[in-house]
Amino acid sequence: MIERLRIERLRVIRYADVRFNRGIYWFHGPNGSGKTTIIEAIHLLSTGRTFAGKAELDPLIQDGQAGMSIRLDHSEHGGFTLHKVRGEDKHLIRSTQDTMKQNEVARLLPLVTVHAQSHLLIDGPAVVRRRYLDWGLFHTNEAFVQQSQHYARLLKQRNASLRQGLPDRLVRSWDELLGETGEYLKMHRENHLRSLKPHIDQCLQALLPEWKVEIIHRPGWSRLTEDLTTAFAKTLEQDRVRGYTGIGAHRAELALQVGGKAARERLSRGEKRRLSLALRLAQLLWYKHLKGYPPLCLLDDFGMELDESGGRTALDIVSASGAQALVTTTEHLLQTYLSYTPVKAVFHVKHGEVQIH
Ligand SMILES: Nc1ncnc2c1ncn2[C@@H]1O[C@H](COP(=O)(O)OP(=O)(O)OP(=O)(O)O)[C@@H](O)[C@H]1O
Ligand SMILES: [Mg+2]
Repeated sequence: MIERLRIERLRVIRYADVRFNRGIYWFHGPNGSGKTTIIEAIHLLSTGRTFAGKAELDPLIQDGQAGMSIRLDHSEHGGFTLHKVRGEDKHLIRSTQDTMKQNEVARLLPLVTVHAQSHLLIDGPAVVRRRYLDWGLFHTNEAFVQQSQHYARLLKQRNASLRQGLPDRLVRSWDELLGETGEYLKMHRENHLRSLKPHIDQCLQALLPEWKVEIIHRPGWSRLTEDLTTAFAKTLEQDRVRGYTGIGAHRAELALQVGGKAARERLSRGEKRRLSLALRLAQLLWYKHLKGYPPLCLLDDFGMELDESGGRTALDIVSASGAQALVTTTEHLLQTYLSYTPVKAVFHVKHGEVQIH
């Protein structure tokens, strides 16, 4: 559980110090007051990226300031600090040891985040859904993480030999290892989807009961080919024309379909919000089922493009999971939803300052 968050010189926030306990924490206030910045600070610390997926942190340092810091105290893992000085590399520190790698922080501070760009899980490119699938593997399967890094290195080498126009013999020298590693990633992604599926079904049943959503893992190469190494051999000529490896585990896709059509084409905006919420909350339930405790839940602009029943259902799922949640919303929606969260606190954010109600 997070116990305290301190932010210095991040965007509109000059200094904020907020304490937390169990339950749901609401942040409301005018546009531009710093609501998103508060919860995004935790996302930055855990993942190294903004909600928009950007890793460049200098634009986030308050104008005219030389650096920023985010410090989080966790009941089990102690203190974590992210320091960023303009123009220098960022620095991640844990109170019990020296500098940490971003992956270590991400593992200790698992997050399920829903924000304005979350519809990209439905509308965006395949990489967004691949990351969605790999999130669970990242948190539970160290070997998978190593194998996917290994795969990325091998792929880079094969692509370099294609680009340089090296003879077939040299390009194909990567195929066996790359093929085997790709098969490994495929198997683990399929297994993971199977274990995630009951939780997805539960959340879809609650949030999108009128649609039957099909979720299909496509490994990134034809199922008609017996294995990936053989598939590489069959597509070598196309790869030569393209100048890169066009098939493989790096092209895996999690296809989302309703009534045999792509969800992105068939669903309304609000239905897409519900679908992406269901998929994210399924991760929350899956993680809790496996580890015995839920990840921290960050919900930005809660209620946007959702009808009241959708918002209520989502809050019910979060509350029932026992997750600690930080939620930003408008004054109006706060009044709508506050009564649906039994254990809560409310903060008002104004010109980058946070006041408890
Ligand atoms: N480097 C910076 N220095 C100072 N202020 C900045 C910087 N970058 C962004 N800002 C300002 O910080 C504010 C962003 O705050 P934030 O996105 O947290 O607001 P919010 O309360 O979530 O607003 P909304 O209701 O619109 O979602 C904006 O007013 C923005 O102009
Ligand atoms: Mg905001």
